[in-house]
Amino acid sequence: MSETVKLNVQELYQLIKGKLIKAGLKEEYAQIIAEHLVSADASGVHSHGAVRVDYYVERIAKGGVNLDPNITFEKTGDSTGTVNGDNGLGHVVALNALNHAVDMAEETGIAAVGIKKMSHSGMMGYYARKAAEKGFVALSMCQSDPMAVPFGGTQNYFGTNPLAFAAPRKDNAPIVFDMATTVQAWGKILDARAKDQEIPETWAVDKNGQPTSDPHAVSGLLPIAGPKGYGLMMMVDILSGMLLGLPFGKHVSSMYSDLTKGRNLGQFYLLIDPQKFSNADVFKENIDTMVQELHAIPAADGFQQVYYPGEINQLFLNSAENEGIFIAKNVYEYLQSDTLHFNQYGGMDAFAEK
Ligand code: NAI
Repeated sequence: MSETVKLNVQELYQLIKGKLIKAGLKEEYAQIIAEHLVSADASGVHSHGAVRVDYYVERIAKGGVNLDPNITFEKTGDSTGTVNGDNGLGHVVALNALNHAVDMAEETGIAAVGIKKMSHSGMMGYYARKAAEKGFVALSMCQSDPMAVPFGGTQNYFGTNPLAFAAPRKDNAPIVFDMATTVQAWGKILDARAKDQEIPETWAVDKNGQPTSDPHAVSGLLPIAGPKGYGLMMMVDILSGMLLGLPFGKHVSSMYSDLTKGRNLGQFYLLIDPQKFSNADVFKENIDTMVQELHAIPAADGFQQVYYPGEINQLFLNSAENEGIFIAKNVYEYLQSDTLHFNQYGGMDAFAEK
């Protein structure tokens, strides 16, 4: 981040909530979104925190989301269901669906819930964490704009399709591992463009499908770990899109191209009660043991210690309440200002370029 401002959690929450209410959201929804975005910034996931408010407000102003959606849940089996978000704000729809999944998993021990017709819903770990806080092992994943090249290809097909996994621990916050299936988010490439800095050749390709270190030449993002990440992003798209009868692959709508229309994105949850497979208390203790054993492994040269997957973000989250959250100064100034949005996103491509 360039110049930053340190805020306490409540301050940031109130600023975001206030801006969203000014944009026309009902208070209940503004609270849900503000809580999510603050949690992202507090976890160090700044790409999905306050920086997004301007974009969400522009989409609201242009009519691309339904501010008063009729969110419906269809129970399709003892442990399965779909939520139709009626083009509501993603964070609101996704939380609603998660509550249905938790209710079903509490009854039957397992729940698989798909969400249709929603907009961008932020960081996947937020939802998996909430399920793990209720004692479930959870997977959460969603579709995103097609901006990644298939392994060995020259044109984009899948999105950065993120995937989060969470599991409860005995006396600690759940482990939450949460990642995009591309090596880097597009935001890092935009940042390098702005600074005219080279990028590692492992991040992205040019229009010929060749790895590039020139951020201006980027036309597609690379999947993590070559064909393996490519396979994972396909899995996410199939579960959170095709399975639900939604547009998939290159047909998934773009975040920036038309802010006047709903995005019809999909998301998918799988919740599992560990008690259905073994003793849940022992399971949670074993997660703690695993963490301790990982911590006990000596660090390799250049590393300070071994963290469990996702621990870095948990450490940020633990310290945010007392130590505050750093956000970009320009984001803070926007949140404080009377400006509703900067009218800068509509009509752009997946890389937020005109
Ligand atoms: P990242 O690359 O910063 O981290 C990925 C994971 O690796 C995290 O769980 C992190 O804690 C873990 N990690 C990092 N360094 C580690 C270390 N040294 N030891 C152990 N674990 C380590 O995350 P990424 O891929 O940039 O994704 C950021 C967020 O963006 C996620 O919350 C994701 O859900 C969200 N996202 C949302 C999209 C959407 O359309 N809604 C699209 C793409 C991403």
